Amino acid sequence: MNILSPSILSADFAILGEQVKYLEEKGVPWLHIDVMDGNFVPNISIGLPVIQSIRKISNMLFDVHLMIDDPIRYIRDFSDAGADLITFHVEAAKDPAAVIAKIRECGKKVGISIKPGTPVSAIESYLGDVDMVLVMTVEPGFGGQSYMPDCEAKVSALRSMIEERELPVDIEVDGGINKDTIDRSIASGANIFVAGSAIFKNDIAANIEIFNEAFAKAEK
Ligand code: DX5
Ligand code: ZN
Repeated sequence: MNILSPSILSADFAILGEQVKYLEEKGVPWLHIDVMDGNFVPNISIGLPVIQSIRKISNMLFDVHLMIDDPIRYIRDFSDAGADLITFHVEAAKDPAAVIAKIRECGKKVGISIKPGTPVSAIESYLGDVDMVLVMTVEPGFGGQSYMPDCEAKVSALRSMIEERELPVDIEVDGGINKDTIDRSIASGANIFVAGSAIFKNDIAANIEIFNEAFAKAEK
């Protein structure tokens, strides 16, 4: 099943709670929360207190994307703050297996992510231990960038591996997903779609509808 995970990086933080509630009322199941540390990526976003606050007003699945160095240091904190799924970058972890084990110990779903320049081979050996792979379709750090079609080959390769091994692993894409790129990203083999600017710019309800229609068309 195809799932939309709106990224609150593009939300209006002055009315974040209202916007999160609105998405939930519209039936959006997941919420993508980008955490940036100014080291792993050249930007700083939001952290624990914001997640704690919105956790109180939402039952959506909190899809927390950690763009931080040495993520194992903060897994327990993000789990306690209300994350349901914690995704870390393989490039940022000294020992990816230890990070996976830590997220499991916290009882949360595990995601592992690769940047555009990182090959699938960097995560292949972890596929049996994670719930989701996040293939970045832009360089992580900022919303509103252009989709990198080159990344589709990695999504397709992962989809083949997952099917061949019959693994229950989702493939998420993040970066530049909008009305012009959603169809091709579905076709490439992804099933979880992060969208920031394409959801929060202009009319949120109309934007959600564009994704729902693309999903319905693909499922026909
Ligand atoms: C970028 C973040 C994305 C970002 C996507 O590093 O991981 O989640 O919010 O923004 P859009 O959808 O505008 O490309
Ligand atoms: Zn993200």
